Amino acid sequence: MTSLLKQPVVDAINGQVVEEFTASLQYTAIALYFDSETLPQLSGFFHLQAQEEHMHAMKLLNYITEAGGQPIVPATKPVKNHFESVEEAVALALNQELKVTEQINSLVSVAVRENDYLTQQFLQWFVTEQLEEVSSMSDLLNIVRRAGKDLFRIEDWLVQNPHEAAAGGAA
Ligand code: FEO
Repeated sequence: MTSLLKQPVVDAINGQVVEEFTASLQYTAIALYFDSETLPQLSGFFHLQAQEEHMHAMKLLNYITEAGGQPIVPATKPVKNHFESVEEAVALALNQELKVTEQINSLVSVAVRENDYLTQQFLQWFVTEQLEEVSSMSDLLNIVRRAGKDLFRIEDWLVQNPHEAAAGGAA
């Protein structure tokens, strides 16, 4: 079919797909670390995050396909598998979300530069989603820091605040 997208836009969206799949695998690695530390609530939270990032990648790929561009399923970037503490893993997750927020903003800039109103509209969902994701991860890091060595407090907080886990896990 005729493509509705200019090539720089397709390239930029395909570039973001790399980041979303990498984020999915990074969250899987973090979830498995929490599994190994017997922290089931934290593990569940990050397994949901991993699913959500996979969904983000698929949303981007499906958009390219629907608009007549060439989607590319990429190799991912390296993933960190070893962590010294809960705080290190959650801080990495927050940094990743802050980085993705910048990347989504750059993606919108490409769409603006190319006068691509369709893609600008499509990307608004991701712009709003990043607010939720950064806020949810930032809350979790605050709780982790406040809990100190008492990891049960983090697990309890996730049980008591299922909306936080859901905010991270919902589409
Ligand atoms: Fe797909 Fe958490 O950004």
